[in-house]
Amino acid sequence: MMDVQVQKIDALIGEMTLEEKIGQLQQCGPSLVGAFEVSFEELLDMMFDGRISQEEFGRLMSTAEKDFHEDNLRAGKIGSYNGVGDALTANRLQKIAVEESRLGIPLLFGYDVIHGFRTVTPIPLAESCAWDPELWQRTARMAAEEATAAGIHMTFAPMVDVAKDARWGRVSEGAGEDTLLNGDYGAAKVRGFQGEDLSQADAMAACLKHFAAYGAGEAGKDYNRVDMSEQRLWEEYLPAYKACIDAGARAVMPAFNDLNGVPCTVNEWLLRDVLRDEWGFDGITVSDANAIAECVNHGVVADRQAAAKEALRAGIDMDMTSNVYAENLAGLIEAGEIAEELLDQAVYRILKLKIELGLFENPYQTNEDKEKRTLVKREYRALAREVATKSMVLLKNESILPLNPQQKIAVFGALANDPGQMTGAWAIGAQENDCFSLAQAMDAQGIRYAYHPGIVDGSVATDEIEKAVASADVVILAIGEQKEESGEAASKADISLPAIQLELAEMLIQTGKPVVAVLFNGRPLAIPTVAEQVPAILEAWHPGIEAGNAILDILYGVVNPSAKLTTTFPFATGQCPLYYDHISTGRPGGKSKFTSKYLDTPLEPVYPFGYGLSYTTFSYSDLQVETTDDVVRLAVTVTNSGARAGEEIVQCYVQDKVAKRARPVKQLKAYKKVLLQPGESITMGFAVLFEKLGYYDRKMDYTLEVGAFTFFVGGNSRDTLSETTYLSFG
Ligand code: GLC
Repeated sequence: MMDVQVQKIDALIGEMTLEEKIGQLQQCGPSLVGAFEVSFEELLDMMFDGRISQEEFGRLMSTAEKDFHEDNLRAGKIGSYNGVGDALTANRLQKIAVEESRLGIPLLFGYDVIHGFRTVTPIPLAESCAWDPELWQRTARMAAEEATAAGIHMTFAPMVDVAKDARWGRVSEGAGEDTLLNGDYGAAKVRGFQGEDLSQADAMAACLKHFAAYGAGEAGKDYNRVDMSEQRLWEEYLPAYKACIDAGARAVMPAFNDLNGVPCTVNEWLLRDVLRDEWGFDGITVSDANAIAECVNHGVVADRQAAAKEALRAGIDMDMTSNVYAENLAGLIEAGEIAEELLDQAVYRILKLKIELGLFENPYQTNEDKEKRTLVKREYRALAREVATKSMVLLKNESILPLNPQQKIAVFGALANDPGQMTGAWAIGAQENDCFSLAQAMDAQGIRYAYHPGIVDGSVATDEIEKAVASADVVILAIGEQKEESGEAASKADISLPAIQLELAEMLIQTGKPVVAVLFNGRPLAIPTVAEQVPAILEAWHPGIEAGNAILDILYGVVNPSAKLTTTFPFATGQCPLYYDHISTGRPGGKSKFTSKYLDTPLEPVYPFGYGLSYTTFSYSDLQVETTDDVVRLAVTVTNSGARAGEEIVQCYVQDKVAKRARPVKQLKAYKKVLLQPGESITMGFAVLFEKLGYYDRKMDYTLEVGAFTFFVGGNSRDTLSETTYLSFG
């Protein structure tokens, strides 16, 4: 930030009234007004708890219009909007701010561009299975180009909440259960969103979230308490957020949850000691939606006034849609309850971001024509298809795949024919007619097939199915989750497939025809029966607008699948949270009675972290481990032992065998994707810095423990070569 700009901010703050300063902290979400007296949120609750029918809700919604509170905007009481996603509206509001308010301070528009804007790409959990930071950055760049053309300046992304419990619906929004992958994913997204120069019109500020440890909610229940040792917080959860800060993220969104009893929204230790003092973050913090007000529900403040005071004190700069700041800060400051200096600091950071984004020089960074030209460009659609094929995980293949064009296909399952379901959670710019379902892609590619939903009026349509199967060579079965079953406020106490889907699968298996299951889901599922009985399984997730074409690219072998799971697939919900980097315990699970296990469920997951198949096979040999200076160097030979070219994601894990605190049995420390031709071998090298092998001891000192370390290398977290070496860190 140049001095002249700093001086400009100081001068501007010097001109601002108290109300105008508070206005800059106000992020307004357009409220919906219509033929209903209550708020939209209340109306939603009334529908959710059955006080009004879905039809009544729909009818009332048809009368709804967005109220952008223009009078407040004119009066300088609004500094930002959440939920504006088109150039026309953005420019209309910007014009009021810049030309009709007293100081003409431009607006900052934030929105949830989580996995693409109009060109919706696979949900983050899917894309994380590509293990490919270069790809993650490219899709983020595309998202930024589209979203900024629609008037958006900041995205509430990347979400890098390490999630080890598949019951949590928001596991769909991040990069799974591993710390390193979440950090790499988030950093790549920050680079892609923000580009080389934040003042460029197609640069979008990244707002990492949710700070911190939102994915560790007890029992996988959304918004639930998070209680963990500081050691575990620093070792497993904070590094992913830090990676995004180091990549230059300009905003941070604290999480809804409490952290050891103190809500993140009013957690001064988290927002000032860690984020600002230790990590040196100088961007803005923006609360989650209504989160400041909800500190009253947490029971840590008595009322909204106290919430405003504690949030500003803790370091929340921007109040997302709760109005608590707007209602209370002036009175608190005038009463001497809180220093105006804290307000000025928040205003400073917000104005600084607006300058960094070039909003003062160029408040109108897009227009309708640019928006129209940019959305869903051909090259964007091509990238959406590429990333979808690189995100789909081949879980099983008993010589069924790839299909050949001569085979007659019967397709079952409504998810095969529902384009709207393909975009998954948080697809704010999605338009259903942009999406290709599997059936639509088959039509578009001229593939002949018979389709049947399989389940009609809640029952398996046995007779019709038998007829449809009779003339088919192969059956494709589309099963899984609706997009509403994952994402926010979508935790589940049972992550198995619905019984009716299992019944359909069973019925199709019994026909004796080869069955390929295509899974559409936003979380790991407990699918032991499908895994055992269905001969071919493709995990497609919610793959975005190019879903159908990408699935066909994989099923017909146009693309050789290479993706690997970034979350563990449990055998049963009761195993959750189930994750690969667990600790051993004093009685590691095993065959004998008195060990850590369940009586009614196997110890192992159905599919482990890092698992995924290819149409070729890979073998590993000659693992070498040596230490030089402050790094451990590994070398391993990987061979494509199959008959076609393929990419393998080679994974490197470590275990610290003895330490003052129990260490995980495996921790991912490095990975690389490599393309190998049939029969080709390559010796791959990994370097693991000593500093990455430490842990926090009981006194919270970061410690490198002299002793034995085992290094594992393989194509997943279970099937590996290993070597143990003694490290003295000397
Ligand atoms: C939601 C989510 C957050 C999102 C915000 C704005 O409640 O928790 O991830 O960015 O509201 O839509």
